[in-house]
Amino acid sequence: MQVAGKTAIVTGGGNGIGAAIATALAGAGARLVVADLDAEAAQSVTAAINAEHPRAAVHQGGDVADAEVIASLIELAETQFGSVDMYFANAGIAGPVGFEELTEADWDGVIDVNLRAHIRAATQLVPRWTVGSGGYFVSTASAAGLLTQIGSAGYSVTKHAAVGFAEWLSVTYGDRGVKVSCLCPMGVDTQLLSAGFDADDRLGRTAARAVTTAGDVLTPQRVAEVVLEAIADEKFLILPHPQVLEMYQHKGSDYDRWLSGMRRYQASLLAADNAD
Ligand SMILES: NC(=O)c1ccc[n+]([C@@H]2O[C@H](COP(=O)([O-])OP(=O)(O)OC[C@H]3O[C@@H](n4cnc5c(N)ncnc54)[C@H](O)[C@@H]3O)[C@@H](O)[C@H]2O)c1
Repeated sequence: MQVAGKTAIVTGGGNGIGAAIATALAGAGARLVVADLDAEAAQSVTAAINAEHPRAAVHQGGDVADAEVIASLIELAETQFGSVDMYFANAGIAGPVGFEELTEADWDGVIDVNLRAHIRAATQLVPRWTVGSGGYFVSTASAAGLLTQIGSAGYSVTKHAAVGFAEWLSVTYGDRGVKVSCLCPMGVDTQLLSAGFDADDRLGRTAARAVTTAGDVLTPQRVAEVVLEAIADEKFLILPHPQVLEMYQHKGSDYDRWLSGMRRYQASLLAADNAD
């Protein structure tokens, strides 16, 4: 898809990967609604975009897991720019690490942002796009949605579910005007990676180390470049770290071998943490 002249809503657009995607989209001629829980961050990304591309972006604060907030973002895009052509379901949280100590509220929190936000957005957009001129849904999942996230049940489960939902959307609506891509990076240099996995907690440190040891930590700008290339080619799976494909193929070709390798990897990370 050509993004020039299209209107995109980018959730979690105030920081990190979302801010870089919004900025890159504006550079390619798109108009933006930048949405974030942190309204000030969204406002400052919008101001930077508008300084380069006058009136290309507006912002809105709010929780993008809330169906009413999603409805108001769509309305803002339509009133401001006349349409909503692309939706980047990018906002995400690391959520609490571990498993045994998680409460129902912990699970709800991470499921709401990392999964239900995508479902609620698509629920509102798909009926518009299948009868109108179509649209593009870009889900930010994670390599953890294809492989796993050592140390964090909530992140692993919700990112797998986000991949599953994006896949299902593509199968079901791909021939009816709804294009879908799914972004699955490993480490990206953002607040989520540096602070999301709590460094005071051994499991949190191990979760972060699992990501940073597995491959290069990319800049959000590099990830945004790869995203725009994939959208131009309308590619479903977006892998800014190409080695993720090899890992995924390895998992698919011998699941048990992959699982025992992951257990060994986890043990080595925990041993390294003990040694620190
Ligand atoms: N950083 C990484 O290493 C990495 C790797 C793989 C996938 N991801 C995914 O990329 C996406 C973006 O993460 P990031 O690394 O840029 O993190 P980030 O913390 O830098 O940015 C995330 C933004 O989302 C916003 N946000 C969180 N919950 C929200 C909500 N309910 N409503 C509205 N906004 C909300 C935050 O305020 C923040 O501005 C996430 O889905 C994350 O899981 C990140």
